[in-house]
Amino acid sequence: MRYFLAAFVLLCLAVVSIAGFRGSLSRRPPLELFSDMDRQPKLRPQSANEFFADRFSSRPHPANTVPRAEPLLVGAQPVYPFEDHPVNTGMVAGTPPGATNFVELNPLPLTAELLARGQHIFSIHCLPCHGAAGDGKGVTTKYGMTVIGNLHDPRIVRQPDGEIFHVITHGRNLMQGYAAAIEPRDRWAVIAYVRALQLSHLASADEVPADQQAALRK
Ligand code: HEC
Repeated sequence: MRYFLAAFVLLCLAVVSIAGFRGSLSRRPPLELFSDMDRQPKLRPQSANEFFADRFSSRPHPANTVPRAEPLLVGAQPVYPFEDHPVNTGMVAGTPPGATNFVELNPLPLTAELLARGQHIFSIHCLPCHGAAGDGKGVTTKYGMTVIGNLHDPRIVRQPDGEIFHVITHGRNLMQGYAAAIEPRDRWAVIAYVRALQLSHLASADEVPADQQAALRK
């Protein structure tokens, strides 16, 4: 141990005598252990560069480039997935300042096409756990998953659309988030479909069109 301490003190002295104290000034160029970190052979975006004939470091898109993200049209306004916008977050700024609230209503226009898309995505991503009827009795209950949210629970029926959007995006309690698998437009489509499922449970037989009531009561 004595030798170790002596060697350590000598080593420290050697390092300090060669490299100097931290922050000490010197006219000599700094020691560069990994010079490739300091000098990188790369072009900075939006800067002039002699390498290309047009002297721009940024290159135009090659023909037939496929964009990674398509904007979602909210009314006439294009919104990209990376934008901090209620259609991407399910949240709006609330009162008091700094607070956020869930978006109350689905911002996408409710169309038959949106509902059909919602049913499609629901059957892929939600049905295995929540069941076709949304009552939480999906096939995963047979494999040990016991507490699955019943989407007809009045507490969930009363949630604003933005809160369900939040649950799909980030998950809640035992449920994981599906942001990576379901893009925002499809999340709103699923929400529209979940609302349709809830409505179908809440409705009474009297609300069925008169010509179909007989078939229903059979
Ligand atoms: C892997 C199984 C699984 C899948 C797939 C799944 N969920 Fe869930 N979900 C759960 C579980 C489990 C809960 C209950 C979470 C808890 O309270 O612990 C839940 C709860 C919920 C809730 C209620 C949240 C609350 O406030 O209590 C909603 C709404 C919901 N899920 C919607 C969806 C939708 C929409 C999809 C499809 C995009 C989906 N879930 C896919 C397992 C799943």
